[in-house]
Amino acid sequence: MTLWGGVFDLPPDESLRRLNDSFSFDRRMYAQDIDGSIAYARALARAGVLTVEEADVLIDGLRRVLAEFESGAFVDQPGDEDIHTAVERRLTELVGEVGGKLHTGRSRNDQVVTDFRLWTMDALRRVDALGKALQSALVASAEGHIDTLMPGYTHFQPAQPITVAHWLMSYFWMLARDRERLHDAWRRTAVSPLGSGALAGHPFGIDRELLADEMGFLSCSQNSLDAVADRDFAAEAGFGLALMAAHLSRFGEDMVIFTNPALGFFTLDDRYSTGSSIMPQKRNADPMELTRGKAARLLGRLTGLLSMIKGTPTGYNKDYQEDKEAVFEMFDTLELLLPVVSAVVSTMTVNTAKLRAALGEELLATDLAEYLVRKGLPFRQAHHVVGRAVREAQAEGVVLSALPLEGLRALSPHFDEDVRDVFSFERSVAMRSTTGGTAPEAVRRQIAAAKALLANR
Ligand code: ARG
Repeated sequence: MTLWGGVFDLPPDESLRRLNDSFSFDRRMYAQDIDGSIAYARALARAGVLTVEEADVLIDGLRRVLAEFESGAFVDQPGDEDIHTAVERRLTELVGEVGGKLHTGRSRNDQVVTDFRLWTMDALRRVDALGKALQSALVASAEGHIDTLMPGYTHFQPAQPITVAHWLMSYFWMLARDRERLHDAWRRTAVSPLGSGALAGHPFGIDRELLADEMGFLSCSQNSLDAVADRDFAAEAGFGLALMAAHLSRFGEDMVIFTNPALGFFTLDDRYSTGSSIMPQKRNADPMELTRGKAARLLGRLTGLLSMIKGTPTGYNKDYQEDKEAVFEMFDTLELLLPVVSAVVSTMTVNTAKLRAALGEELLATDLAEYLVRKGLPFRQAHHVVGRAVREAQAEGVVLSALPLEGLRALSPHFDEDVRDVFSFERSVAMRSTTGGTAPEAVRRQIAAAKALLANR
């Protein structure tokens, strides 16, 4: 029997059931559904809709249903369309007719989105904690590599020398913004829709504010028609998660390139790399490729959520049932990825010598131009002069520092003996000591700021 069969002569066809039923995936929200129902039974009793004794019977029954879900003893029946139907059906079997009073003034429209918001609030906290663990792993690794030099890239062309700590910390700040976004999304998720009814509100005078508070929400919604159809929180959380996945994917891409033997900057720990079934020498960065690959799922799911919302008319629409698998998959994917990415960071070997060997003198061309600036030449001219010097060195097949001083002087009289000092990667890095720069002293301050942030959140 369905919950809504009264008006129909025939039960739904089996093919419709297969399309319509959501229990297979929304059963994940059993704890939120039952917690919400317990709070709702109390609210009904406070409003005088139920006697205290009736509420106690319902609450006791709901706790027994919860125990069945938790122990795996819950047995679903063919009519269990969704988690709400299943819980109410089982409750009524356990406590009898009074079970039929629980849904007074409530609709599955306000119930489902209450459950889903509670579920999303928990999940946001879990991903936040995993994001924080990754940030801690990045800081710990960075602290060991404040003086380790590596080539920095733009357009993936060698650009200027940086430190490994600086590169690692760049991901810390992406994650800091990701976590802030998830906190923001959490605040807007923590708004209770319960007591909105199907669309028009609650006719029995329940205290919605107190009900919201009991369930762990920050506040309750102000418009019942909006509340039952509002899936903004799902899209917002989805965007936060998709962007976080995009950041992890960038790290994955870096690592695929940097672990390639042609560069060999880092080596993944045995536990976090995979081999080939035919080529014995292979050490593949599968977890990093999967990080890139799985990010695509999240981008797709986010697009799906936004598309789901845009075409729906006022009030609740069954389209919204599609929200849950999308959001579940996004959280599941990140919960799978984040621990592996953290472990990759904590266990990878940093091949200092390879990083050093990859530093070419062309990375100091900007420093050379800045040398001329310090001698009084306008930067635009200095840039041109050094460009000519780079061309000459390339034509001669020598490194920049091998150009004779007379040759340099022919390009600009500002060159002097002290130009030799410019050809030091350490010097180049040390010069960039203002806030946010790659100089060891600046990176130490960066790391201190990062630790202060982690101590707060
Ligand atoms: N399973 C439904 C969902 O996820 C629950 C709400 C159903 N409401 C309704 N009026 N059919 O959206």
